[in-house]
This record gives sequence, C-alpha cells and structure tokens, in this order.
Amino acid sequence: MDVIEAIFTRQSVGKVKPDPVPAEVIERLVLAAVQAPNHYKVRPWRFVVLTGTGRERLGQVMADSFRAKFPQAPPEALEKERNKALRAPVLVAVGVDKPAEPRVVEIENICATAAACQNLLLAAHAEGLAAKWRTGSPATDPAVKQFLGFDPDQHLIAFLYIGYPEGETPPVERPSFEDRTVWMDK
Ligand SMILES: Cc1cc2nc3c(=O)[nH]c(=O)nc-3n(C[C@H](O)[C@H](O)[C@H](O)COP(=O)(O)O)c2cc1C
Repeated sequence: MDVIEAIFTRQSVGKVKPDPVPAEVIERLVLAAVQAPNHYKVRPWRFVVLTGTGRERLGQVMADSFRAKFPQAPPEALEKERNKALRAPVLVAVGVDKPAEPRVVEIENICATAAACQNLLLAAHAEGLAAKWRTGSPATDPAVKQFLGFDPDQHLIAFLYIGYPEGETPPVERPSFEDRTVWMDK
C-alpha cells in the first residue's frame, strides 16, 4: 500500500478481535512512528506498549482512579472502567518529553509526537490492522501517568488501540479542505 492510499483509506476502528498481534509487527509500527520529523533531533516521543496483563494492570489503575473520584460508583461502573483497557489486544500509550534545554519548545515536542502517532496509525493500517486514537480522562490522570512511568507534568497524548479488524467498517466521508484553506499569491 502506498502512502497516499494509506492516508485516504485509514480510518478509526474501535472494535477489533482479541487475537494477539506479534511483537515484531508492533515493533514495525513503533519504528514507523519514530520516522516522524522532530526539531533539534530531540526525539521527544515515549511509547509504552501494553499487551496481555499489562492492559489489565492499566485497567485496574483506571478503575482505582475512577473510584477515588466517585466513591459512590457502583461495581458495574468500575468494571466498565477496568474493561476500557481491554478493548484491543495492544495499547500504545504515547507520552511527550518536557524540553530539557531552552531552545526546545514544548509545543514542538507535542507536534512531533502527534506526527509519530499518525505514522503509527498509517503503518498499522498498511499492516492490515485496525486502530483508534483515544485520550479521555485517563490521559490527564496523574495515577495513570505514574503507572506508565511518566511525570505528572508530562503530556500523555494518546492511547493507540490496535488489533485485527472485526468485520468491515464502512468508509467515512471526510469534509474537504476548501473551507479551511486560503491561498495567498499576492
Ligand atoms: C488527540 C486525539 C484524541 C482523541 N481522543 C478520542 C477519544 O478519547 N475517544 C474517541 O472516541 N475518539 C478520540 N479521538 C478521535 C478518533 O481517534 C478519530 O480520529 C475520530 O473519531 C475520527 O475518525 P477517523 O480517524 O476515522 O477520521 C481522538 C483523536 C485525536 C487526534
């Protein structure tokens, strides 16, 4: 699949099979991710690949946080929270390094890491995998960040849920670019 076809046919797919994805396939995705451009060659991206019981441990952290915020939450609500991390056989949590020197700008590190996420999604699509970029409240939860090895002030910009597609996903229509684009030729 060439890059243009990948860009135009990629779409988010939330429902995937529970079948495991081989480690070497996941490694190819992360290798594609780190081909993204980044300023000053700081390589600001950090990936935490969660599979198997790693996802269960994350789910438990998410459920514990939910209970801390909503002490009256019924067991079903906690179970729902716990199961969120099990929606796909592979989760890649993506964090961003804080700038370590004055010339490095945080927004640029975030931009570079977002570009890495898109590379990873496109590579997953080209490998015949389905994926979805999610964030939600866990992305700003200090307990989740700590579990993943991130500092509380580090941005956690994505949970990329990845697995083999279950069934067909109808193609999405995306709005075109005209209403978001101006041309300046003078
Ligand atoms: C930074 C970011 C965070 C997102 N967080 C969520 C999320 O928490 N839940 C969700 O359903 N979609 C989330 N999305 C949107 C989906 O990943 C997806 O891009 C969107 O539904 C459009 O579908 P498409 O990828 O097929 O164009 C997020 C997208 C981005 C870029």
